[in-house]
Amino acid sequence: MSNGARYWMALLPTLLLWPILAGAFEDDEACLMCHKYPKMGRITDEGIQKSYYVVPNTFSRTVHRNVPCRDCHSYIKQLPHKPVEEGVRCDSECHSVQNPSTGQPFSHKPIYNAFKESVHSREKVEDDRSDADKPYCITCHTNPLYNESEETPPKHIVDRCVVCHEDEKFANKWYSHTSRRIREVKRSSQEIVALCSTCHGDEEMVTRHRKAAEKEGRELGKKFPIAVESYQDSFHGKVTKYGSTDAANCLDCHASAKNYYMSVHELRPSSDPESPVHKDNRVKTCKRCHETADANYAALDPHPSNNKEDNAFNHYAELLYNIVGNVALVGLVGMALFETVGRRRDGASWRFMNGTSWRRRRRF
Ligand code: HEC
Ligand code: HEC
Ligand code: HEC
Ligand code: HEC
Ligand code: HEC
Ligand code: HEC
Ligand code: HEC
Repeated sequence: MSNGARYWMALLPTLLLWPILAGAFEDDEACLMCHKYPKMGRITDEGIQKSYYVVPNTFSRTVHRNVPCRDCHSYIKQLPHKPVEEGVRCDSECHSVQNPSTGQPFSHKPIYNAFKESVHSREKVEDDRSDADKPYCITCHTNPLYNESEETPPKHIVDRCVVCHEDEKFANKWYSHTSRRIREVKRSSQEIVALCSTCHGDEEMVTRHRKAAEKEGRELGKKFPIAVESYQDSFHGKVTKYGSTDAANCLDCHASAKNYYMSVHELRPSSDPESPVHKDNRVKTCKRCHETADANYAALDPHPSNNKEDNAFNHYAELLYNIVGNVALVGLVGMALFETVGRRRDGASWRFMNGTSWRRRRRF
């Protein structure tokens, strides 16, 4: 072997590994040849403006930056590609990213499988049966930046990694990965209520879906039609609206406490014995926050309705309060009127003096 050949043999692994070592997004599939143009996009038949522009410097700071485009857009087999008719599935395997703990190609299968058992189970992003009303992964998740507030990892932390790991790129990459997960990146109660309400508070969707379920002979929960408005009326809903982060949001009750990041994907109907809101599990669920909760406490309705059949006590209590309230109001106004007429007849004037208009004419 010549010296020149040896030189290239030694260099080859470095060249092959370069994109990984460099860490940043490399566009080795040449997608950006076309997708780097800001004006690229179209208006769909429904009149929605779609952008096909991928911003390289933004993409390279997202959680999926090490995933090559075609690991997700796997239906693209050649370039230039045909018009796209499929959506991306979130359970497909990444050919280029290994799960370091199993040595297998990485995929979101564990979450996907949990999701498949849930009330929102839906096979594909473009399913257009009544399932289209249900959320898919990308309804709730975009492709977030690792650490939104940081352009680059803080130097004083990376400095510490490189005393052992030598390579700054390695340190940057793993800093971004772990620091995002160590920080609690989690939606606030208000965000969760807003997320669930986009669908469960949409009267049209609720009615459409109730009809579909009826046709299919499936029974939905008693509170399905009023889940959001009744939550808004509940104590939890009211204090959450005014900023409380401690009162229960939808997921505090509907997702099991076991592993939050998994169980939010496993929501079940209240009739399922594994649901934390199943009647046998309710005490335990309330106890997460109300330490002294017992069966009586757990029987308090978190989705209170004033429907007569559902909640006769509330219904009649509200009716009674309304009657009492109205009687009191009519009585008060009536009294004031009597008083006015009476004083007028006694010769009190309308003039406003020293803070009151009730003033007799001077006697002297
Ligand atoms: C030669 C130029 C070119 C290249 C290279 C290219 N694309 Fe495209 N891509 C287009 C055009 C043009 C459209 C818009 C097609 C349309 O409106 O039907 C598009 C649309 C898309 C869409 C959106 C389709 C939709 O309707 O939602 C996706 C996803 C996509 N490309 C992915 C990729 C990926 C991944 C790569 C790299 C493997 C890539 N493209 C490379 C030209 C290109
Ligand atoms: C982690 C998976 C993933 C990776 C990696 C990824 N995409 Fe996408 N991309 C998606 C999803 C999901 C959508 C939403 C539409 C869909 O479901 O098909 C999408 C949509 C798009 C669209 C169309 C936008 C629209 O509104 O329909 C384009 C264009 C696109 N991607 C290009 C790219 C290019 C270029 C790359 C590489 C730089 C890339 N994508 C990397 C998952 C991915
Ligand atoms: C109804 C909304 C919803 C749907 C649908 C959904 N998720 Fe989630 N997901 C969440 C919430 C809420 C969290 C908790 C973290 C947060 O608040 O962002 C989460 C967390 C995650 C995490 C952990 C993120 C991290 O940084 O720790 C991953 C990964 C994930 N989801 C993937 C998926 C996949 C894959 C699917 C589709 C099979 C999916 N999700 C469907 C709401 C949803
Ligand atoms: C005192 C030396 C030292 C410092 C400082 C250090 N590491 Fe490590 N790191 C190691 C050693 C040794 C290993 C080998 C794994 C083990 O402990 O068995 C390792 C392993 C790792 C691994 C696992 C790699 C793999 O593929 O298995 C990651 C990721 C990592 N370090 C990231 C970091 C980051 C990020 C920092 C800075 C915040 C850091 N390390 C600081 C010594 C260090
Ligand atoms: C994209 C719309 C959408 C979003 C967002 C959504 N849901 Fe749903 N959800 C549905 C649809 C549609 C059904 C009906 C499923 C069926 O027919 O079985 C449903 C069913 C349910 C059920 C079971 C209903 C029953 O009667 O069996 C519960 C509980 C539920 N969702 C809770 C939630 C919570 C909590 C959130 C917020 C984290 C949420 N959903 C977000 C659309 C949505
Ligand atoms: C304090 C706990 C709690 C909170 C907070 C809560 N729920 Fe519920 N939810 C329940 C219980 C318990 C039931 C079953 C009630 C029944 O059938 O009598 C239920 C029933 C439902 C149902 C009907 C389907 C079923 O499984 O019976 C839907 C849909 C629902 N909730 C959605 C939501 C949404 C959306 C939010 C947030 C806006 C929310 N819930 C907040 C406890 C809660
Ligand atoms: C994530 C924590 C959490 C969960 C789970 C939870 N609650 Fe609450 N709840 C609160 C907080 C915080 C308040 C406000 C307490 C206060 O300010 O007095 C509250 C207030 C209430 C109130 C108002 C009256 C009172 O006792 O203060 C009722 C009733 C109530 N919860 C019932 C329930 C029931 C029933 C369950 C179980 C189905 C439940 N809660 C589950 C956090 C929770």
